[in-house]
Amino acid sequence: MFESGEVQAPYPQYRCPVDGEDLPLTEARITVTCERHRPHEEPPVFTVREATSADRKAIELICDRVWGETDIDCFGKAFDVLAGENLVAEVGGELAGIVSLAIDRGEQAIVMLSVYPEHQGAGIGGALVREAIARTERAGLPFVKVATTNDDIPAFYFYQRLGFVVYEVDCGTVVDHHGEVLSGFAGIPIRDEIRLRRSAC
Ligand SMILES: CC(C)(COP(=O)(O)OP(=O)(O)OC[C@H]1O[C@@H](n2cnc3c(N)ncnc32)[C@H](O)[C@@H]1OP(=O)(O)O)[C@@H](O)C(=O)NCCC(=O)NCCS
Repeated sequence: MFESGEVQAPYPQYRCPVDGEDLPLTEARITVTCERHRPHEEPPVFTVREATSADRKAIELICDRVWGETDIDCFGKAFDVLAGENLVAEVGGELAGIVSLAIDRGEQAIVMLSVYPEHQGAGIGGALVREAIARTERAGLPFVKVATTNDDIPAFYFYQRLGFVVYEVDCGTVVDHHGEVLSGFAGIPIRDEIRLRRSAC
């Protein structure tokens, strides 16, 4: 985890599909292509499984790179990823992505979803969310919900493609929480929490 006062270079969260350069969040840009053009000519083979205590360090690392901590604020409260139900995707025995789940007010919440840049666009994020939906149905819960922020266009696209719909927007909550306006995807100011959900079946 970050030490107090330590200055961290922004960790690359995306990868340019044109030249393969790793991109910090604010330097990523979006483009429109046809559906035939995929980021990977040969998508990697991956597996999805429940996390075990042996995954703790790898989970801390991916949280650190995306959020700087393992406590995630959403839906008006803080969730500890390490205390959640975590599913991990692996490529070649290495952690490629994670979804962290918690039950909040009778609904399944996706507290965090992250896929490492080199593995994005290969279906891993979709597979993790589909497994979360299947678990929600098995648990008899009505909805799976997720919170994203106004800047995060890739996530907003991604969740709507998976059948999630917006049900609530908490305007200005991210600014209130941080006490300042942070720059997010492509340098867009992060202000609002956008909440989406879909039924579990
Ligand atoms: C949003 C996110 C979870 C999507 O995961 P993913 O594994 O790339 O998603 P999939 O491959 O299952 O793609 C599903 C859809 O989302 C789109 N998509 C979303 N983000 C994408 C990305 N970064 N790269 C390529 N495709 C992306 C895909 O095009 C695909 O849509 P399509 O079927 O219409 O083509 C992932 O991009 C992510 O983790 N972003 C946040 C940044 C982050 O946390 N980085 C890790 C830092 S260490």
